[in-house]
Amino acid sequence: MPVRQRGPDVELRELDLFSRDDLPLLQAWAAARAASETHDLGDHASPYTVEELRGLTDPATKSRTPLLAVVGGHAAGAGMLALPHKDNVHVAFGVVHTDPAWRRRGVGSAVLAELERRAVAAGRTSMLLESASLTERDPAASFAVTHGYDLALTSLESELALGALTPEQATEESAYAIEVAAGDVPESWLEDHVVLLTRMSTDTPQGNLDLQEESWDVPRVRQWSHSQQDAGRGRVEAVARDRASGRLVGYTFITVPPHLGGVAIQEDTLVIREHRGHGLGVLLKRACARALADGWPQVHTIRTWNAADNAHMLAVNRALGFRQVAFEREWQKRLARPVALVT
Ligand SMILES: CC(C)(COP(=O)(O)OP(=O)(O)OC[C@H]1O[C@@H](n2cnc3c(N)ncnc32)[C@H](O)[C@@H]1OP(=O)(O)O)[C@@H](O)C(=O)NCCC(=O)NCCS
Repeated sequence: MPVRQRGPDVELRELDLFSRDDLPLLQAWAAARAASETHDLGDHASPYTVEELRGLTDPATKSRTPLLAVVGGHAAGAGMLALPHKDNVHVAFGVVHTDPAWRRRGVGSAVLAELERRAVAAGRTSMLLESASLTERDPAASFAVTHGYDLALTSLESELALGALTPEQATEESAYAIEVAAGDVPESWLEDHVVLLTRMSTDTPQGNLDLQEESWDVPRVRQWSHSQQDAGRGRVEAVARDRASGRLVGYTFITVPPHLGGVAIQEDTLVIREHRGHGLGVLLKRACARALADGWPQVHTIRTWNAADNAHMLAVNRALGFRQVAFEREWQKRLARPVALVT
């Protein structure tokens, strides 16, 4: 369906995430994005700061290009194009946010058209976008569908008030040991993390997302682990070690973005397929939450996202005391390659 272009012209400015000169515009970009996220999710929004995005971005692995939408001298919207370079080089990840004061005037459409143009120019054949809403009715769905996107994955955002963490059950002698570390991933864990992070890209529900196995090695794991500190965040991780082989077979980690005011983020959680069914999910998450509470007494809430069809993970969350607070959706569109002109 054609999208009407209305209102004043939208000027799109490409920003360099790492440029000192661009910092004021980057701050305006982050503010527009945060205003949009907070409008839609209230206290359950987790907006990034510029400093965080800088710390979390290794341009050799994934480049991130922010686009600021300016209307009449105002920062009206924030877009971003993320292009993976080590794996999934057929995919582009897009971010489109319109400041709530500027919605329904064509800003989002202008940003998205430019992101798609750049993705095609970079040879990408799939574009992925995310949206989030407090209820099942997601206003961004109309925007996505209007622009030719299909729903590829629905996730649930859940939160655990640390005070509501359910008490530990007595456990029998186990074939697994749970270990915890704060800060960077310990050197002795790095090699096993190559397998764990690769499996994180294949052994978790992906819906219809056009994503392939990721390519990890020790230097990438080390960089990934340290990126949280570069982003100014605290980090704590719990792993499960198979006593028989000595290998790590599961992990979960939590980050603490200081600007979220006592909310910590539970990022990846994985038990590799061969070791599922032994209660490791609950043990890992509980151990990580305990270590978080000990090391970061200011944190009161853990926030996490899980695929809506990930029944096991959601059961683990319920057992720990998490409750669902919002929905997140991933949208996907196959991008048309430009037709080669024969002269
Ligand atoms: C979704 C979002 C980016 C739309 O931005 P926008 O600047 O308002 O979008 P546009 O004005 O270009 O809208 C284009 C068309 O999308 C559809 N659309 C956009 N928002 C809509 C809404 N809330 N309800 C119904 N249709 C909507 C309409 O067809 C609209 O055309 P119309 O206004 O002529 O009817 C904005 O609501 C937003 O920032 N949401 C939060 C972040 C997000 O969800 N991003 C997109 C993920 S897919």
